[in-house]
Amino acid sequence: MCGIIGYLGSHEASPFLVEALKRLEYRGYDSAGIATVNDGALDRRRAVGKLVNLADLLVHTPLRGRSGIGHTRWATHGGPTETNAHPHQASRVAVVHNGIVENFRELRAELAAAGIGFETETDTETVALLTNHYLAQGDSPRAAVERVLPRLEGAFALLFLFAGEDDLLIAARKGSPLAIGHGDGENFVGSDAIALAPLTDRITYLEEGDMAVVTRQSIEIRDREGQLANREMKQVTLDTARVDKGGHKHFMAKEIMEQPQVVGNAIKHYLGEAGTNISLPGEGVDFTRVERMILVACGTAYYACLTAKYWLETLARIPVEVDIASEFRYREPPVTPGTVALFVSQSGETADTLAALRYCQGKADMILSVVNVAESSIARESDLALPILAGTEIGVASTKAFSCQLTVLLLLALKAAQDRATLAEPERERLTAALRGLPAVLNRALDSDGIAATLSQQLAEARDILFLGRGLMYPLALEGALKLKEISYIHAEAYASGELKHGPIALIDKRVPVVVMAPRDALFDKSISNMEEVMARGGKILLISDREGLHAAGDGVWKGIELPYVDPVLTPILYALPAQLLAYHTAIAKGTDVDQPRNLAKSVTVE
Ligand code: F6R
Repeated sequence: MCGIIGYLGSHEASPFLVEALKRLEYRGYDSAGIATVNDGALDRRRAVGKLVNLADLLVHTPLRGRSGIGHTRWATHGGPTETNAHPHQASRVAVVHNGIVENFRELRAELAAAGIGFETETDTETVALLTNHYLAQGDSPRAAVERVLPRLEGAFALLFLFAGEDDLLIAARKGSPLAIGHGDGENFVGSDAIALAPLTDRITYLEEGDMAVVTRQSIEIRDREGQLANREMKQVTLDTARVDKGGHKHFMAKEIMEQPQVVGNAIKHYLGEAGTNISLPGEGVDFTRVERMILVACGTAYYACLTAKYWLETLARIPVEVDIASEFRYREPPVTPGTVALFVSQSGETADTLAALRYCQGKADMILSVVNVAESSIARESDLALPILAGTEIGVASTKAFSCQLTVLLLLALKAAQDRATLAEPERERLTAALRGLPAVLNRALDSDGIAATLSQQLAEARDILFLGRGLMYPLALEGALKLKEISYIHAEAYASGELKHGPIALIDKRVPVVVMAPRDALFDKSISNMEEVMARGGKILLISDREGLHAAGDGVWKGIELPYVDPVLTPILYALPAQLLAYHTAIAKGTDVDQPRNLAKSVTVE
């Protein structure tokens, strides 16, 4: 959420900054801006909306200088206007910020009392003004920043650029991630390694409370006590050097289509090329001693956790509680010995999930995470991080990360079942073998692209859409509704099919399409009964099932999407695909911005 970048080198900074911001735009696209120092003079350009507007502005009014900072914004404090756009400048200093300064009102009051005025509604401006205030008192740039940082409450990744300092960038991190890229005679700072990927593969991640003083030839990092800190430099091999749409119209389409391959990669990673034994990294988990698991995440990752609850409870007989991170973190829930706490996050930087993880540190027997970004804070702060190997996900709506999260969570449940001997060995082997065959089945499921595109023309006309599912399909229904609403802006809600008659059935009429996900599993007949209840009230059913399921459902259904039959245990991974395709095509039909839907951003690093 908000992307920041800094460059110090021998080339003009602007093109580097804009190129890096392009790679960070998934973090926010309310406005973008850059500032540079040229012959000691600090100047900036900012534009509302997408980065392309800033790029256009720079064509007409270029910004020279070989050092600079840049920002792409997801608005928190103050609307998406040019005035509120970063970098924020106060005379001799310009600042870009990812996070929230929670005590900005007190700081504003203090600055106002000192006769200092404000131009913006942002929290970040107070950081620039306070720094400049200290500079005006005679502090050096470094001393000024060292005075400012302890005064800031909340979360931040900050970059400071100073007038009169052509060879200086100061970076600081508390709560929001920040990476330093090492070059030859040039250095970089960015919100993540994706931004830095084309510039360098040598990265140092700042730790909580770190401050870095960066010049072209040196990087000095100090920890929260002000002591020199030796942070490891890592050689990263991200597949991020190429962040392109691979011939698709949108990143989301590319990422949906990649699923057979990335799910296959995840399966091979944990199962090897042959056999049915699952190996976890490091010492793994001793599931025989686990009494209870707590699963915590946000959004789509939370729905992956809800699905995993069914698997862990049914297959491995482990009692599981699932919670939304923003609720969990403030409730002070008891975390008793015997508990393994598991956190699921694509980005590995989601502020609420990270805070929930930290709450469990020292309380749970073990902190496990299921993450896509291996170098993320959540991965680094876990006792054991299980990679999902989805590759870089750029589309704001999560697709391939979800199916890979499910895959790894199912593998984990099967491993737990093996360790605890809760599943007969032949049955476990049968399921593992079926999982190995899943990528081929996912490939066939992608054939539903055409029917999803056709149906979406009608879905796009609806004002409300309901999703229903039972058992393993209930979390999938929730995910289907989330996907649809976040990119098509159509109101969508999901219910457990059996819950409908307890109230929501009042919403049914012929204008409300009802998407029912009902594979032929043990609950199929019950799902069909619930579907009949909807049809009896004039509801229009779009049924997603396998051939026999569609046949058994009869002629009353409005439309059907046929999927291959798979073992019921695997259905969540398979049924995710048509749900994503329906959302994708409905968004296209509505003409919305599929990869960058309004009001959203990826990697939610604020509360
Ligand atoms: C929805 C979506 C979000 C994320 C949520 C958690 O398509 O992508 O709901 O799932 O913000 O993000 P991570 O997984 O990065 O913690």
